[in-house]
Parts: sequence; C-alpha cells; structure tokens
Amino acid sequence: AHEPLVLGIETSCDETGIGIVRGRTLLSNTIASSMDEHARYGGVVPEVAARAHLEALQPAITAALAEADVSLDDLDAVAVTSGPGLAGALMVGVGAAKALAVSLDKPLYAVNHLVGHIAADILTGDEVEYPTVALLVSGGHTSLLLVRDLVSDVELLGETMDDAAGEAFDKIARILGLPYPGGPEIDKAAATGDPTAIRFPRGMSRASDMAEHRYDFSFSGLKTAVARWVEQREAAGEPVSVPDVAASFREAVVDVLVTKALDACARHDVPRLLLGGGVIANRRLREVALERAAAAGVAVRIPPLSLCTDNGAMIAALAAELIRGGRPASTLAFGADSTLPV
Ligand code: KG4
Ligand code: ZN
Repeated sequence: AHEPLVLGIETSCDETGIGIVRGRTLLSNTIASSMDEHARYGGVVPEVAARAHLEALQPAITAALAEADVSLDDLDAVAVTSGPGLAGALMVGVGAAKALAVSLDKPLYAVNHLVGHIAADILTGDEVEYPTVALLVSGGHTSLLLVRDLVSDVELLGETMDDAAGEAFDKIARILGLPYPGGPEIDKAAATGDPTAIRFPRGMSRASDMAEHRYDFSFSGLKTAVARWVEQREAAGEPVSVPDVAASFREAVVDVLVTKALDACARHDVPRLLLGGGVIANRRLREVALERAAAAGVAVRIPPLSLCTDNGAMIAALAAELIRGGRPASTLAFGADSTLPV
C-alpha cells in the first residue's frame, strides 16, 4: 500500500517543529527553539514565542523538505497541532498549515499535541503495543493518559492542577540562582546532593486528594515549600546546600510522577508505560521509572529525546496514523484551541 507522505507543523510552545514522515518512517525532524529569547524572563513568554514561530516557520519548512529530499508537491497531507498550547503560538502554526494545504490543494489534519507525543513512539521503528499508559512531562504540560488505541481511544486520566513539572524545575532553579532552563541545571546540581536531606511534599498524594485527584498533579505547593525552606535558612544565617535542595526537590517530583504513573498501570492492568516530553531528559526520572517499573512488571518505553521534546515529526506521524485508520481530513473550520481536549 502507498504510505502517505505527511508534513507536520508544531508551534504549541517555544519550539517551531517541522517534521516529515512517510507512513511510520521518519524522514526529517527540524526544530528551531526560541528558548534563548525566553531565558532572561525565566520562562516562556507567549508573545515572544508567537513572533519567533512566524520567523522560524519558512526556513524550517525549507530545511525539513531538503533533509527529507522531497518537494511540497510530493506531500499527501499537511498536519498541524491545533491545541492544547499557547493560543498565539498555535495560531501561527494553524495559519501556516491552512495556507500550505489550500495553496497545494492537499488534505489538512488538525491534531492534538498530547496525542502527538504518544504517536512519536511509532517513529522509533520498534513494534508499539497498546494499551499503554503515557506520562507526558514538559515545560507546558504534565499529563497522564490511558491509550487503548492511538486513533480512536485515548483517555486523559489526570493532569497538573497548576504548574507543569518542567515549569517547577525552572522556578526552583531560579530560587537557587541557577540559569534557565532549570531542568538540566537542577539535574546537574543534584548529582552531588543528598535526595533524603529534606523531605519536600508530594503534591496531590494525600489520602484526601486521592478520591478526586488520584492521577492529577500539583507542583505549586512544592515550589512554595522549597522557597520557604531556602528563605528560612538564609534568614537564620545558615548555609543552603544547593545540591541537597536540588536533589531533594528532584526526588519529590520524580517520586510523585512515577508513583502515579505506575498506579495507573496497576489499576488499569496495563503492563506498559510510555514516557514523553522534555522533562524525560531528567536522569533521576528515567532511573526511578525504569527501576520501579521493572519491579512492577511494567515495560517502559522512552523514545529518543529528539522525539520526546516538542517536534513536528510526531504531529506528522499522528496524521499518518489517522490516514491509515481511514479518518477524513479536517475542514478549514477549525482554529487554534489552547485547551483542546484529547
Ligand atoms: O518538551 P520541552 O523541550 O518543551 C517545552 O515544554 O516547551 O520541555 C522543556 C522543559 C523545561 O521546563 C526544562 O526545564 C525541562 O523540560 N527539562 C528538564 C530537563 N531537561 C529539560 N527537567 C528536568 N530535568 C532535565 N534534565
Ligand atoms: Zn509537548
């Protein structure tokens, strides 16, 4: 059968991602990030991200086509993230995708960013099995999903009630005087710290939270706890061990992420866990997830980081699956939807 050649556009946060796939085969994955521009603000600034997408899209499309060695006319479809994400950033990608699809007279697929993260796994070339639980952790989202079928049955089990996990890393880094993005910096600092030095709270894990929020996350209380601990130490003129705080904070985040993900596997009797999102770069998270999953008889899948962070290839891959599943293309009536449900 003819495998569809799909170009995917991803602009939901600060990465401008253009990916090209042929069916389940990855042909190119071009990413331009505006992260450097956000560094002095300590977090992603939506207006800055949107403007950066506008500037990065055209060159990224050209580069992706060249890398894949195909031309626009060869495409069978165009795919784009329509949500969830930053409204202004999404709008740039959606506008570009519509213009491209209309001018080329190709079908257009609007897809969900979170489901796209799950589809990234297909591009590893390994056999992918469902059902699987998926834990997606980045600077923009922290979500736990149950995937029975990628095309027709993805259920959101829970998500963060406040900050995303990556955002928490970025904010704690700032408190500790470490640069943005904070995740890699905390990871580095934590390497020489004692993760049991300070017992920080595990958000949304009390018995009273579990009835309604078993699979939800909260990191704002943890952030406040770290800030207060550091302030009190400094006020008392006592030294603050950055490695110990970093390691203890990281342990709290990792513990709650892995505990809830494996709880979802156990309760739904699903022996598979897929990890995705930029926070997966965290060494301790990978280590604890692999260790505890092995003990629980759960197989863990971690795609390469270039497919875990936001990218266009996963968006193209999801559209290719929709085409394979016989789904009709989107009409042009859709728009960017910052809170698009799965
Ligand atoms: O998926 P991603 O590249 O993009 C967006 O969310 O836009 O994720 C970036 C986030 C940032 O918050 C960053 O601090 C975090 O992932 N991150 C990490 C690590 N590397 C990146 N968090 C914890 N540990 C890391 N090693
Ligand atoms: Zn993402």
